[in-house]
Amino acid sequence: MRRLLSIPLLSLALVACATGSSQAQTETGMGSHFDAAAVVHTAVVHGDLTGVREPGRWLTEHSPPDLPEGTEAYVAELQKYARRAADARNLEDAAYATGRIAQACGACHREYEGGPVPVLPPAADEGPDLPTHMVRHAWAAKRMWEGLVVPSDDAWMAGAQALEGTPLQPEEALAENMEEVDYLEKRCHGLGSRAQLVTGPSARARIYGELIATCADCHELAGRDVAVVW
Ligand code: HEC
Ligand code: HEC
Repeated sequence: MRRLLSIPLLSLALVACATGSSQAQTETGMGSHFDAAAVVHTAVVHGDLTGVREPGRWLTEHSPPDLPEGTEAYVAELQKYARRAADARNLEDAAYATGRIAQACGACHREYEGGPVPVLPPAADEGPDLPTHMVRHAWAAKRMWEGLVVPSDDAWMAGAQALEGTPLQPEEALAENMEEVDYLEKRCHGLGSRAQLVTGPSARARIYGELIATCADCHELAGRDVAVVW
């Protein structure tokens, strides 16, 4: 199994901080939870099951510090799925657990009216070549992730719509597995359409899991190291 060569540089620039009485302390804790969860996501998309284990375990062992009273059940939910991701035997299970992690983040933020504030960056260009197409896929997946974590309908819909566009014709370099590659690419785009029809956090988390499992499948199949920037 390929490993992520380096922990991706995590962009927190898109996240404007929520205000609160004990902001400084909570921010630090949330920052690292945010980082660990993002590394889990990136490893899954990359098709790197081994890379999910460490950040997954970290999440099960650390509670975000200085949380409002009464949030224990949300932390427990988060940690349950972090453990599932860490112990997953295949990428599909890890992907599904990752969707549930994001859902758990979002459930607490919704209840306590805290959490990140997304600033929607301009959509990545649509282009004919594979790398440009992939950057757009990554943009879309990131918006859908924010859609769950914040949670934000706007971010979710923006990501789903960006995915919906025209699937890429598999290039010759992928010819060996042409049929499956074609299927996976169309599946990604189909999930973008389906994602726009579902509203509940649980159904969205499931679609999200399905989506990143599809990214992972194709990256594994293509057998190329992909530098998934998050
Ligand atoms: C148990 C409740 C709870 C859970 C679970 C939770 N958060 Fe938070 N989070 C909060 C609260 C409350 C705030 C607001 C803190 C404040 O305003 O001081 C917050 C703030 C944030 C912020 C904005 C502050 C910052 O550091 O930039 C981010 C980002 C964030 N959370 C990400 C996450 C992610 C990602 C997860 C899941 C891996 C998560 N949170 C899980 C309660 C939670
Ligand atoms: C049809 C197969 C396929 C699917 C589906 C797919 N990818 Fe890719 N992806 C590739 C291949 C092949 C590469 C390697 C491109 C190269 O070598 O230039 C790649 C590369 C990437 C890259 C690196 C781009 C760069 O700058 O080199 C990112 C980011 C990425 N994929 C994200 C995603 C995300 C997110 C998804 C799911 C929403 C996804 N991909 C789904 C085949 C796929």
